[in-house]
Amino acid sequence: MDSNCGWPEPVIPVQSISESGTETIPNRYIKPLPDRPCIETNSSPLNIPVIDLSAMSREEMARAVSDASRGWGFLQVVNHGVRPELMRRAREVWRGFFHLPMEEKQRYANSPATYEGYGSRLGVEKGVRLDWGDYYFLHVLPPCLKSHEKWPALPNALRDTTDEYSRELINLCERIMEAMSIGLGLDPTRLQDSFGGRADVGACLRVNYYPKCPQPELTLGLSSHSDPGGMTVLLVDDSVKGLQVRRGSDWVTIDPVRDAFIINVGDQIQVLSNAIYKSVEHRVMVNATDERLSMAFFYNPKADLPLSPIRELVTFDRPALYTPMTFNEYRVYIRQKGPRGKSQVESLKTSR
Ligand code: OGA
Ligand code: NI
Repeated sequence: MDSNCGWPEPVIPVQSISESGTETIPNRYIKPLPDRPCIETNSSPLNIPVIDLSAMSREEMARAVSDASRGWGFLQVVNHGVRPELMRRAREVWRGFFHLPMEEKQRYANSPATYEGYGSRLGVEKGVRLDWGDYYFLHVLPPCLKSHEKWPALPNALRDTTDEYSRELINLCERIMEAMSIGLGLDPTRLQDSFGGRADVGACLRVNYYPKCPQPELTLGLSSHSDPGGMTVLLVDDSVKGLQVRRGSDWVTIDPVRDAFIINVGDQIQVLSNAIYKSVEHRVMVNATDERLSMAFFYNPKADLPLSPIRELVTFDRPALYTPMTFNEYRVYIRQKGPRGKSQVESLKTSR
């Protein structure tokens, strides 16, 4: 056995670098010039659509979700049915975990075989540049992959709160899936069925912790990537900005809306929708004064089902853009290479 748990070199939590009080970040975290963020102060006039789910009929919701998924690949939802008190509690227990002593967190140190547990890097290539963030990754569904033993035992309320939060988010994902399906002109359950059906979907949670950074203009908390799975429901800090979404050649900084969720299309929905819905690149900036916590809930298709564009969306004028691949095969790429823009979903394109 190697001593690094399968990683190519020892993993150093970013939090420990941040807390050492250093005024310069190690070279490994310095991004090449074109990748560095432009930390502008004024917010962008453009922003992703905010959709109030309480104020709409099923058809109106389908239209709004569909328009956002075609244009931005991103939307924010408010009045979504998940209690703000539960959202706050979920963030608090996880903040509590990241504030535990390092030895306690290291008991859950992850390996690149499954990524479950406490970690800091994504990808196993030696010597690559790293992102300024730590995370915790765990499985919620399917039940055979879920194991409380692999979730932190502390803070005491973490496991129950995460269970309650996950149940609510699965409900929300089911509603959004239905809206996305109707918005493609399909039966309400068609997209969900293409995921393998409600009983067989996958769900994982990645809690991201971005410590304060003395030189935020040189690095990123998470490099540009598109999410490999089905769709993502992201809960961000209400008060600390950081997420940027690609819009053409620009990066738009998202203004967090209180008690909202940010939802984005992942690569698998791009594939199933034959690229009618877009899985859009995004990245995270860090800052010198505030740490930031986010919770990314990934709702994924059944892992061993070969996925290709839904039959009804393939026409003479719009042939199938992708060749079939299972999600299990697909995610090997990001797990080995780390976040690399949209290079993977692009590589799936059929050559015509
Ligand atoms: C992710 C992600 C954004 C954020 O975890 O895939 O894009 O704001 N997170 O942390
Ligand atoms: Ni992401």
